[in-house]
Amino acid sequence: MSRRSGEPFAAVDVIRVKRDGNVLSDQQIDWVVDAYTRGAVADEQMAALAMAILLRGMTPGETARWTRAMVASGTRLDLSDIGRPTVDKHSTGGVGDKITLPLTPLVAACGAGVPQLSGRGLGHTGGTLDKLETIPGFRAGLSGAEFASQLRSVGAVICAAGDDLAPADRKLYALRDVTATVESIPLIASSIISKKIAEGTSALVLDVKFGSGAFLRQFADARDLASVMVELGTAHGVATVALLTDMNTPLGHAVGNSIEVTESIEVLAGGGPADVVALTLALARQMLDLAGLGDVDPADALRDGRAMDRWRALVRGQGGDPAAPLPVAAETEVVRADRDGVVTAVDAYRVGVAAWQLGAGRARKEDPVSAAAGVRLRRRPGDPVRAGDVLLELLADDAARIPAAQETIRGAATIGDSLQETLPLVRERIA
Ligand code: URA
Repeated sequence: MSRRSGEPFAAVDVIRVKRDGNVLSDQQIDWVVDAYTRGAVADEQMAALAMAILLRGMTPGETARWTRAMVASGTRLDLSDIGRPTVDKHSTGGVGDKITLPLTPLVAACGAGVPQLSGRGLGHTGGTLDKLETIPGFRAGLSGAEFASQLRSVGAVICAAGDDLAPADRKLYALRDVTATVESIPLIASSIISKKIAEGTSALVLDVKFGSGAFLRQFADARDLASVMVELGTAHGVATVALLTDMNTPLGHAVGNSIEVTESIEVLAGGGPADVVALTLALARQMLDLAGLGDVDPADALRDGRAMDRWRALVRGQGGDPAAPLPVAAETEVVRADRDGVVTAVDAYRVGVAAWQLGAGRARKEDPVSAAAGVRLRRRPGDPVRAGDVLLELLADDAARIPAAQETIRGAATIGDSLQETLPLVRERIA
């Protein structure tokens, strides 16, 4: 097939290689990623290639080269002079997953530098930046100089990725989103890891979730993704470890933007829900270990206020007022227990979708989100209840949003006579 002038390959030939189940060469991968970023490969051609990759897979060698090409599409930050070992955490996303908020200042308080580039929420899982932006004055868009300066002074920064960080991924991820090609393990792994390599962190802990509220429901799929990402990160010189964690139940009691900030502050104050504290500490221990700070106990920094001090410095450093009151919902509706018993499950997916319908999430990336909307779990699995007790609270700015969320959340909390044995939140570690 004819090539565009000046191009070494024709996109259609590259697509055909993968369509027929063959292996792409390094040169073909480098070219197609670069040419797509430049606009020399059309969206429909990249969509066909992404579908061929989804159906045929990629070898470990192809996935590593694809990742390298995505990093090379933009700038790679150099954090070697910030004066601390750098370590980051990435979660594949879950309902009520506010762990980045307490974890980032906690790990910084223990001596590491945490360059946390985060995103906004799309669909039923919330975005870290949407939560932080409920704090009056908080700025998620920092320049490269501001990012490095805060990392040096506070040791912790949580902001949006700049446009020059893995631009190939930004374009490809948006295309995959509308062409049913997100669910490819090599494409997910290369997407996530390319951004982390470009961000310049020396070490990375992955929180790979499975269960009803996770992006991958099956444990086996989450484990495959975790293994590919650990291998990719390590091969690119980033010390990488993954924890596989349960996302069948929302994390904590709060699912929404400002209410998750409040719950995170409770954790930083030494309280908060047991599961949020446990996962924060489990991830912090992995991060500190990779940063060479394995003898520091992060539980001490939660107890003695150092993590809270670091949170305040982080928020202030990004223009926010850590003491300002957070927005509160105007409308509240409750879901009550219809019998006596014990809560046996609270389904994360249905809670996530209900929070999204109440206004906490967005359907399209340009939509606004409500700061105060969400769902509060008044009871969690294992809690005893009496008929009529409040199980869930629905919060919204606009009462018109409540009926659809009520419909979604009906039956999300189940009540039985007793709770069967529960499995641990952190199911496996992959290194
Ligand atoms: N998150 C990402 O950043 N990329 C994917 O492909 C999927 C989830």
